[in-house]
Amino acid sequence: MNYELLEEAATYLQGLWPDAKPTHGLILGSGWSEVVDAFTVKATVAYGEIPGMGKAGVVGHAGKLAWAELAGVETFIFQGRRHYYEGVGWTPIAIPIYTLRACGARIVVLTNAAGGVRDDMQPGDLMIITDHINNFGTNPLLGEHNVAWGPRFPDQSNVYHPEGITLLQRAGEAAGVPLSTGVYLASTGPTYETPAEVRAYRTWGADAVGMSTVPEAILANAAGLKVAGLSCITNLAAGIQQTALSHEEVTDTTKQTMPRMKSVLTALWKEWGNAQ
Ligand code: HPA
Repeated sequence: MNYELLEEAATYLQGLWPDAKPTHGLILGSGWSEVVDAFTVKATVAYGEIPGMGKAGVVGHAGKLAWAELAGVETFIFQGRRHYYEGVGWTPIAIPIYTLRACGARIVVLTNAAGGVRDDMQPGDLMIITDHINNFGTNPLLGEHNVAWGPRFPDQSNVYHPEGITLLQRAGEAAGVPLSTGVYLASTGPTYETPAEVRAYRTWGADAVGMSTVPEAILANAAGLKVAGLSCITNLAAGIQQTALSHEEVTDTTKQTMPRMKSVLTALWKEWGNAQ
């Protein structure tokens, strides 16, 4: 991880928006970008302008940061994420988390598109992430210890903060949207899983599979942010559904599910707004 670039990115954003005091962060995964429409946006900046961030290179990822507000809760919304499978290392994945911490944010919500593994999952379901399995075979905290990420050996007992899980459950009720809970397993991608891998991951306790979120959750938890995670189940995992997986299917499902994604997050932000 390039700490000079992390620092440069945070300094750039603080200079660009000196009045920004985000208490919350929101990282929007594949197909989630349109959620930003539920917020009032004060300003945006393209990822390409932020040192070290590069351009989000995946369809369904807008690739910009919005300084926004909803229910009086000031939020940095990262519309689209960089992925490890892009071969860009950890720096652009860590920049949003590092920046949020540098700006004084306390909470980050991570969203993604995922394949459903558990029997009761259906495309279009929304799943609160209660825990994860890191199947990347590596870890964003590998390397020289830096105190920005807390202790050398961060505890992983509650990566997804219990308060965040409860608040998401309440937000689902308030929005009238049923939410399930489950364990999210992430591998590097860019290949989808094989049916044999999916069978194996099921026995490990995975309820959904994807290619993101876990590194950000590890970093944010280590940095002392409270983490909440929400997956949109866009397809059944390989071997469970009979048709081939495609990114088009992923973005089609998020498009159809968008009204529910927006209303859950709006209800969540209103809870935070009321608590302020
Ligand atoms: N596997 C991995 N990543 C995904 C999937 C999947 O089935 N669906 C959406 N992202």
